[in-house]
Amino acid sequence: MTMERILVTGGAGFIGANFVHYLIRHSDTKITVLDSLTYAGNLESLRDVPESRLKVVIGDVVDAPLVDELVGTTDAVVHFAAESHNDNSLHDPKPFLDTNVVGTYTLLEAVRRHDVRFHHISTDEVYGDLELDDPNRFTDTTPYNPSSPYSATKAASDLLVRAWVRSFGVRATISNCSNNYGPYQHVEKFIPRQITNILQGTRPKLYGTGHNVRDWIHVDDHSSAVWEIMRRGTVGKTYLIGADGEKNNREVLEMILGLMGQATDAFDTVTDRAGHDLRYAIDASVLREELGWRPEHRDMEAGLTETISWYRENAWWWEDSKSGTEGRYLMQEVAQ
Ligand code: NAD
Ligand code: DAU
Repeated sequence: MTMERILVTGGAGFIGANFVHYLIRHSDTKITVLDSLTYAGNLESLRDVPESRLKVVIGDVVDAPLVDELVGTTDAVVHFAAESHNDNSLHDPKPFLDTNVVGTYTLLEAVRRHDVRFHHISTDEVYGDLELDDPNRFTDTTPYNPSSPYSATKAASDLLVRAWVRSFGVRATISNCSNNYGPYQHVEKFIPRQITNILQGTRPKLYGTGHNVRDWIHVDDHSSAVWEIMRRGTVGKTYLIGADGEKNNREVLEMILGLMGQATDAFDTVTDRAGHDLRYAIDASVLREELGWRPEHRDMEAGLTETISWYRENAWWWEDSKSGTEGRYLMQEVAQ
C-alpha cells in the first residue's frame, strides 16, 4: 500500500512532532501536519524539518470542510490531535469532548468518504487502572473502564473508530500506548515539569504518596510501533504499545533528582489528583509477535539522562510556557 503522503493531525504536539521527525529519518513520505496550535502545540518543535518534506496547515480537526480537503489529497491519516492532559480535563472537560470526540468523528467521516487508511492514536487509560499487585496487564480484550474526562473522551473516540470500521468498512487501526517521555513534551506533564522545576530552582511536586505506577516508554519507540502498524498492521485491529517500563512516580522523581545532582528527597508532596488512576501496565505481546516490533530504549535511566540534557540545552523551547503552566496549576489547586 502506498504511503507517499501522510496527514499527521496534532503534529505540533509532543508525540506528533516526534513522529514527524521519525518519518523524516525512516521514510521518504511527504507530510502534512494539521494542528490548531492550542497551548500544547508549538511549531518550533518542527523547526529542523526540511521544507521539501513538510507542509503545515494551521486548522482545527472539527473543521469538516478543511478536514475533507486535506484527507482527499493524502494516502493515510495518523490522528494524534487531542486535548491530552488529565488535570486540565478535571477543570474544564468541554474542549476534550470537542477535539477528542467530535474531532475524531470529523476525521472518520472524511476517511470514509475518500476511502483513506486511518490510524488512531489512543491511550492505555481507556482501560482504567490496576491494583499494584494485579498479575494481569492490559490487553486488547480488557474491558473499557475510563476514570477521567480525558480518558472517557479517548475511550469514546476509540469506540467511534471501531464502529466506523464495522459499519462502514473504514480501513482503520487503533493503538493504545502507555506513558511517553522524551524531547518536546509540554512542561505541564510529570517528567518535564519536574526537570524544568529543578532547572529553575523550584522543588518538584509529587501528587499524593507517589505510589501510582506508570508504564514508561520512550517516544521514539512509540513512533516506531505506530509506523510498523500503519505499514503492516491488520485493518480493524487494536494494538497495545508498551515497553515493560513500569515504575512508580516516586521512583521516577528520585531518579530525576539523582541524575540532576540533587538530594533524592528534595521534593514537595502536594494534593493528589482527583480520581487518580493507581497503575497502568501494557501487555504488548501481540505487537511483538505479529509485527516483530521491539523497543530500542530499554534503559530508562539512560533515556532520562538524554531527556534532562535536552531540556537543559533547549530552555528557549520551554521557558515561555513554564510560568503560565505553573500559574494554571496554582489556580487549579486553589479551585480544589
Ligand atoms: P499534546 O497535548 O502534546 O499535543 C496535542 C496536539 O494536538 C497539539 O499540538 C495541539 O495543538 C493539537 N490539537 C489539540 N486540539 C486540536 C484541534 N482541535 N485541532 C487540531 N489540533 C489540535 O499531546 P501528546 O502527548 O503529544 O498526545 C498525542 C496523542 O497521543 C493524543 O491523542 C494522546 O491521547 C495520545 N497519547 C499520549 C500519551 C502520552 O504519554 N503523552 C500516551 C498515549 C497516548
Ligand atoms: O498513560 C498514557 C497517558 O499518559 C496519556 O494518555 C496522557 O495523554 C498523558 O498525559 C499521560 O497521562 P498521566 O496522567 O499518566 O500523565 P502525567 O504526566 O500528567 O502524570 C504522570 C503521573 O505523575 C501521574 O500519576 C500523576 C503524577 N504527577 C503528575 C504531575 C503533573 C505528579 O505526581 N506530579 C505532577 O506534577
